[in-house]
Amino acid sequence: MRHPSLSVIFLAVSLLGVTAFAGPEHKNLQVLPKTITNDELKKTMDGFTEQLGVKCTFCHVIDQYDKDERPHKADARRMIKLVQDMKAKKADYFGPRTKEAVITCSMCHKGKAEPEPFVP
Ligand code: HEC
Ligand code: HEC
Repeated sequence: MRHPSLSVIFLAVSLLGVTAFAGPEHKNLQVLPKTITNDELKKTMDGFTEQLGVKCTFCHVIDQYDKDERPHKADARRMIKLVQDMKAKKADYFGPRTKEAVITCSMCHKGKAEPEPFVP
């Protein structure tokens, strides 16, 4: 193998991914349902990184996912509530053509940490 150090990094990264969601219970869920499965939580977190174009460390200190060290985690909690509210009151806010699947972070963020201002 020409780059043994690379495979070590890959191994470390995959182990990290496993341990982050391995806990039987998550310690500090305040907005997401406490009954969320590891798979659903992983999908949700992967979704945040894609939809905002960021890494886990935008909101977390690595390996301390239950801690509230990073201010963006608090921002994200407000935003999760916003999306939950838009989904719950979908009929009040949107017309029938708006499918629930489009009510996500990317509806506004479109791959950016901060939604781009519209300059007419
Ligand atoms: C945009 C911000 C954001 C990004 C990016 C993000 N997370 Fe999170 N994460 C949160 C928030 C907010 C919570 C807490 C949700 C709640 O309070 O219900 C959370 C909770 C978690 C938890 C549960 C911790 C516990 O025990 O309470 C894990 C594990 C986690 N995130 C892992 C990850 C991983 C791994 C990534 C990268 C793939 C990631 N997160 C990316 C915002 C983010
Ligand atoms: C209805 C539009 C909208 C949706 C949907 C939305 N956001 Fe936001 N978001 C904003 C706006 C506008 C800002 C900037 C103002 C603010 O922080 O309130 C923002 C700011 C943020 C910030 C702070 C960014 C920074 O650089 O300071 C984070 C983190 C964030 N959003 C995460 C999320 C996540 C995660 C979701 C999905 C659960 C989400 N947002 C859904 C409109 C939205």
